[in-house]
Order: sequence, then structure tokens, then C-alpha cells
Amino acid sequence: MQTRLTIPRPDDWHLHLRDGAMLAGIAPESARHFARAIIMPNLVPPVVTGAQAAAYRDRILAVTGSGFTPLMTLYLTEATDPADVVAAHAAGIITAVKLYPAGATTNSASGVRDFDRVRGVLDAMADAGIPLLCHGEVTDPEIDIFDREAVFIERVLDPIRRATPGLRVVMEHITTSDAVAYVQSQPADLGATITTHHLVINRNHILVGGIKPHYYCLPVAKRETHRQALLKAAISGDPRFFLGTDSAPHADDAKESACGCAGCFTATNTLSVLAQVFDDAGALDRLEGFVSRHGPAFYGLPVNDTTLILEKTDSPVTYPARIDTGAGPVTVFDPGFPLYWQVTQEI
Ligand code: NCD
Ligand code: ZN
Repeated sequence: MQTRLTIPRPDDWHLHLRDGAMLAGIAPESARHFARAIIMPNLVPPVVTGAQAAAYRDRILAVTGSGFTPLMTLYLTEATDPADVVAAHAAGIITAVKLYPAGATTNSASGVRDFDRVRGVLDAMADAGIPLLCHGEVTDPEIDIFDREAVFIERVLDPIRRATPGLRVVMEHITTSDAVAYVQSQPADLGATITTHHLVINRNHILVGGIKPHYYCLPVAKRETHRQALLKAAISGDPRFFLGTDSAPHADDAKESACGCAGCFTATNTLSVLAQVFDDAGALDRLEGFVSRHGPAFYGLPVNDTTLILEKTDSPVTYPARIDTGAGPVTVFDPGFPLYWQVTQEI
């Protein structure tokens, strides 16, 4: 039985760090284990210009210190200036641009309604090799929430990719077998992130035996068959699938509410949960690719030269149930099964 795993330090290719007191409280949870993270721009107001991204990056670094590298993104709006995007990328301020269909999720009111209006930006991004990160859900009220990802692929993603040859695209936090199949059917300029929690929960976890607000996130978890498809993709070794935790903290009073916010906070125990999931699936040897190698390969970045050691313990490892922040307590994701793997060392 394998009880020790040494891997290059992992990266998180989709992370919400928020701002102010919440940023100060939760950023250390990611910086402890991850070397780099793609930082989501859905602040209030969103990060829409290169100058705002640079200022936000500095606020993150002020909390984490230089041992953690925030890879910044811009929030695509119908008013985004292609020249600003290209200049911010050339200056090393941003790594990617994020597409939220308007109204799709937390703080996405400024997102895109008419995709023809962002054509100039997408063309400029394809030319400059800047990846587009997609929140892959349509927002049409007549489309059932469980179908919104599959419909997005057909109505939005595939047309955008056909109309913009050479554009590198990441389908973020995929939740369906449809998304897995679509990625597998396409060339390597399309990648997908998979979250920790979507490898663990299906929609029953949210709804059976009482509503569980801390399992509610967007895209919402689907049927068990979809979870199994995601797990199969994550452990397959296919480099187009890599970790993006989508760790998305909200204070408990905003989650445990009559209109609770979407988002699971997994930063604290993500690597323990993933090691357990991969171990239980008999795929520990594939964890390194998923958390440390496939993401850098997609983004054209070096694999981290520092390492992290995970060890399997005899009795379950425990984590705090919540992290106290100046913006209120944030509940840590409960996978619902014991965790025997823990990070013991970083070199
Ligand atoms: C995210 C958030 O809270 O910012 N919520 C979530 O459920 N994932 C937004 C997002 O990534 O959709
Ligand atoms: Zn997210």
C-alpha cells in the first residue's frame, strides 16, 4: 500500500479569493499548498481593466507574500477594449480572460449578453494566444438549471470556437458527461477544469434529507452518472483535464439563508480530499498530472520546481469546520467521508 506521495507543488486553475477582510482571511488557505492560482475577477465591481487587475494582484500579494503567484484574469464585458486586454497580457499582468454569460452566477450581472459584441476581443485574444475561460452555462430562464451546461456547449461554446480559430478555451468547472465528451472530441486547444467538490458530490447531496446550502454551487452538481464521468476524466491521465477548485467562499450567513449564495469553500482540505478520491479510485499515480502537470502544460508555463509531500495516516485527518475571517465564518467543504491523506511537507 502506498502511503507517501511526492509531487511538484500543485496549482489551482480556478480560484475565488474575494477582497478586503475575506481575502485576508481565506487567501492563506490556498497559498499554504498551491504555488499559483488563476484568480477569478468577479469582485463587486468586477475586475475589467488591466490597471484594476494589477491593483488586485498587489492586494493579494500583500496577504500571501511572494511564495504564491496569483495569475490574474479580466472579466469580459461588452465594453472590454481589445487593446487593453492585449497590453495587460503583454505586460504580464493578466494570464486569461473570463467569460460569464450575464446573470449566470455570483456577481455576473456585467457579463456578456450579445456575443457578437465581444467578437473583436476574442479575435485579438486568439492572435495574442490569450486563453478564454468560460463559465459554461446559458442563463435563459426557459432552460432547466440541470441542462444549462449542455445547452451552453451547443449554443455558445461551439459557435464561439468555430468563429474564432486558434482561440484557446478552458471550459471551467465542468459538471456533466456532455462536457467531458465535448472536450474529448476536440483538439488540444480546448481544456477543462474540474473542481474537487464535483468529484465528490452529486445532486442528492444537496437535496436529500434536507437542503444543504454548503453543497450548493454553480454549475450545480448533477446526477451520479455525471459525477462518475468527471471522475473518470480526472483520473484518465488525459492532459486536457486539470484541477480548478472553484473554491468560492461566502460567509455562513449568506449561505445559510432563504436565498443562499452559490459556492463551495474547499481550499483548506482540497488536496486531502483529492488524494483520498484518487486513492479510492486506484489512481494515485494520476494525481500528479491532474494537480501539478496538466494545467501548466495547457497554459504554456513551467511545472513548479518545488515539491509537496502527501502522507497517508492511520487515523482520519481533521480540519477546522470553518475558517473565521473578518468578513464572518466560512464553512469548509465536508466531503462526507474520512480523509487519511494530508500534506506533511513542502520543499
Ligand atoms: C462562484 C462565486 O461564488 O463567486 N460561485 C460558485 O458557485 N462557483 C462563482 C462561479 O464560479 O460561478
Ligand atoms: Zn468560480
